[in-house]
Amino acid sequence: MLIDGHGRTVNYLRISVTERCNFRCQYCMPEKPFSWVPKENLLSFEELFLFVKVAIDEGVNKIRITGGEPLLREDLDKFIKMISDYKPDIDLALTTNAFLLPDAAQRLKDAGLKRLNISLDSLKTDVAAKVAGKDVLSEVLKGIDKALEVGLQVKINMVPLKGINDDEILDVMDYCKAHGMKVRFIEYMENEHADKALKGMHGREILAKVKERHTIKALGREGASPSFNYLLDDGYEFGLIDPHKHDFCESCNRIRLTAEGFLIPCLYFDEAMSIAEHVKKGDVESAAGVLAQVLKDKPKENRWSEEELEDRELSKRAFYETGG
Ligand code: GTP
Ligand code: 5AD
Ligand code: SF4
Repeated sequence: MLIDGHGRTVNYLRISVTERCNFRCQYCMPEKPFSWVPKENLLSFEELFLFVKVAIDEGVNKIRITGGEPLLREDLDKFIKMISDYKPDIDLALTTNAFLLPDAAQRLKDAGLKRLNISLDSLKTDVAAKVAGKDVLSEVLKGIDKALEVGLQVKINMVPLKGINDDEILDVMDYCKAHGMKVRFIEYMENEHADKALKGMHGREILAKVKERHTIKALGREGASPSFNYLLDDGYEFGLIDPHKHDFCESCNRIRLTAEGFLIPCLYFDEAMSIAEHVKKGDVESAAGVLAQVLKDKPKENRWSEEELEDRELSKRAFYETGG
């Protein structure tokens, strides 16, 4: 079992397989970065898999593939199959913007993927284009349909932004309800890479919008998930991810691995240790040693608390590197 320095059990590994993305979401990567990580610095799937085996053997039973946009990485389905073959009962999921899903969904399902979390910030063509930096909506909706058709479980992530999509909370919720998908509204997390003018909606403002039409009952957090769940009067369940109130840090169960091999103990953390040289040499023991050290150093909580937001530095690490 993997236990961190604060006594929390870590069983969830998020692997960002590329920082590249085909969208330019305002809250994440409004402009193409000055340079991408050179291809030769990326760990191969075989190298990543070596670490995955260490993590699974030590107790990880949930793996999520993220990016950037993970579907930009060639042969992703082969990596998924490697993991699924090694531990068939693992909770194996992917977070994607869905643009490439119409073509990829069946292959992912066949490789052993179980679940998908998809970003959907608007159901209006022009607003979706404004958020993502290009015309994306019709492909995204096709991707969602395809994923459901092939039998993947789908959750939707929406980041409500003031003056942009704050009037669509109920519409996105209705769309998700009609498709049998859970929606999670995510508070915008301020970071150095995002559009500086952005203002996210606070969790309580998001809930107020929902309450305009529904009565809701708080259900609580689902295990160690950052999502706090609510039940609508009609039985539909939705989630709110509210990192500004970092009470989910208390039960945080996750670590992150980047495409370059950096192990990151918390989303809001600028320091990281690398496993790259070890997995390149096939040195499993040293990779396990880095994992143990990173767990020891995992911080107690993130730094998006409301009190600190005004006067502290923004996280320098980009969400597209760490995988959200
Ligand atoms: P499930 O397994 O479906 O619960 O997935 P998930 O919520 O772990 O995955 P997803 O990639 O959909 O994450 C949703 C968002 O929650 C992320 O993109 C982040 O914005 C936020 N999030 C996830 N983990 C953390 C975390 O450890 N800290 C903070 N601050 N936010 C997180
Ligand atoms: N704030 C909140 N959520 C973010 N995401 C990416 N960047 C941010 C941010 N700055 C979310 C997207 C996507 C998930 C991977 O991360 O909504 O669904
Ligand atoms: Fe790409 Fe996801 Fe970032 Fe949007 S949020 S730019 S889709 S990595």
